[in-house]
Amino acid sequence: MTHKQEPIKGTAGDVASHDQTKSWFYTDVVKDHFFNPRNFMHQDADEREYNAIGKVGSPACGDELRVWMKVDPTTERITDFRWKTFGCGSAIASTSMASVMVMENGGMTLEEARKLKPQDIMERLGGLPQRKFHCSVLCDKALRDAINDFYRRTDQFDKMIVEASRIIDPISKVTDHDIEEAVLEGAHTLELVQQKTKVGIGNPGCLPAVEELIRFYKEKYFG
Ligand code: FES
Repeated sequence: MTHKQEPIKGTAGDVASHDQTKSWFYTDVVKDHFFNPRNFMHQDADEREYNAIGKVGSPACGDELRVWMKVDPTTERITDFRWKTFGCGSAIASTSMASVMVMENGGMTLEEARKLKPQDIMERLGGLPQRKFHCSVLCDKALRDAINDFYRRTDQFDKMIVEASRIIDPISKVTDHDIEEAVLEGAHTLELVQQKTKVGIGNPGCLPAVEELIRFYKEKYFG
């Protein structure tokens, strides 16, 4: 199954530019989760009932997502997963689907949930438009943040995995995280990543590391 829902020039999609030259399509599953989001955090819920909270902001679009989890302290299975977002329809559909996935069949353990990838969520959604891939990464990252929060609260610091960014080009101050965002935004060649980030312009010595990262993130998110 492809993850890409490519725009078709000259055809009307679910979202189309005013001159109809560009359009995006969403699958029925995406539309269902957007219009009927599952496990949305209740307005009057008491967040003290949850023992793990995650939060992430997207540098790509400025949107934000929060998740709340109830984790059984004995089995470390997720028994409840709620969320709220200021993100777009794709973020809503992705997080709604992720909430279903982590709770089905008795709930994933935290280690199983940590292995959940954005591709798994997109697969269940039947794909997302390429420019929306970063929205599905948002819920994946918020989930990881909540998993770390549970381990922090239970003093299991050795199980926490913190993804810090690392400077790849000291001249342009571009980090591996910037390159990850560029790849998620559709820049899949060195030339396109350079157009977006300016990495390596004035410091060509870092380009092999940049190419390596582009390969890594393409494999990670696009298979
Ligand atoms: S979450 Fe910001 S554009 Fe989708």
